[in-house]
Amino acid sequence: MNKVETISMSASAPEDGSAPLLSARGLRLAFGLTEALRGVDLDCHAGEIIAVTGPSGSGKSTLLHVLAGVLVPDEGTVDYDTVRLTDLDEAGRSRLRLDKFGFVFQYGQLLPDLNAVDNVTIPLLLAGVTRREARRRADAWLDRLDLGECSRKLPAQLSGGQAQRVAIARALATKPTLLFTDEPTGSLDSLAAETVMLALTEAARDANTAVILTTHDPRTAAYADREVVVRDGQITIGGAYG
Ligand SMILES: Nc1ncnc2c1ncn2[C@@H]1O[C@H](COP(=O)(O)OP(=O)(O)OP(=O)(O)O)[C@@H](O)[C@H]1O
Ligand SMILES: [Mg+2]
Repeated sequence: MNKVETISMSASAPEDGSAPLLSARGLRLAFGLTEALRGVDLDCHAGEIIAVTGPSGSGKSTLLHVLAGVLVPDEGTVDYDTVRLTDLDEAGRSRLRLDKFGFVFQYGQLLPDLNAVDNVTIPLLLAGVTRREARRRADAWLDRLDLGECSRKLPAQLSGGQAQRVAIARALATKPTLLFTDEPTGSLDSLAAETVMLALTEAARDANTAVILTTHDPRTAAYADREVVVRDGQITIGGAYG
């Protein structure tokens, strides 16, 4: 992508004028005296890949958690499709996360006692897919992410990049509309980071899954369609209005 052009020229609405999938307005959240978010507006459209960048402590992870309904803002709204996420109770938010959202964490957070293919199978079983079909889909996702030969390995036997790709397979297997990932390449060297970002963005684009990721690394951000820069709890570039 041409980032400078994207930032300076694009409004957030795509050319077809469709409504955003996720829309946040006026988000504020303080932890005691620390104002982590100070009035954030952000739109994310279906299939869009957004990188949230900014200095350490600027509020990236807090923003991601509020958008995903993990944290509740003190002020402001988050709308997912036709649902006002910020009006739901914990059970409602939890249901929405399970049904519609996927998550990939910095260290993958795979279940340590299960091999790669079982880690990918579990959320499918939880979603009510039959064991046989879940296994078939998990195998297909591992192949898709070039992990066919790793399927019987435990997480401890995988490289950091392989484990992260298993976590991506696990997150995308349930076909979420929106994937949230906090520093997906934060624990990887630059070569593994490139492989993971290529796998993540290609697979997300194929599945028309939107992605909101945070990163310190400009090379990771370059895989996104749009970069949003957060400073001191506010979006300084990007956001809702391009
Ligand atoms: N649970 C918490 N309790 C108290 N303060 C918090 C909490 N979480 C975040 N903060 C504070 O809120 C601010 C924003 O933190 P956040 O984790 O969102 O930053 P970040 O941009 O993700 O940083 P990094 O790049 O280091 O991950 C920081 O000042 C941080 O110390
Ligand atoms: Mg963070």
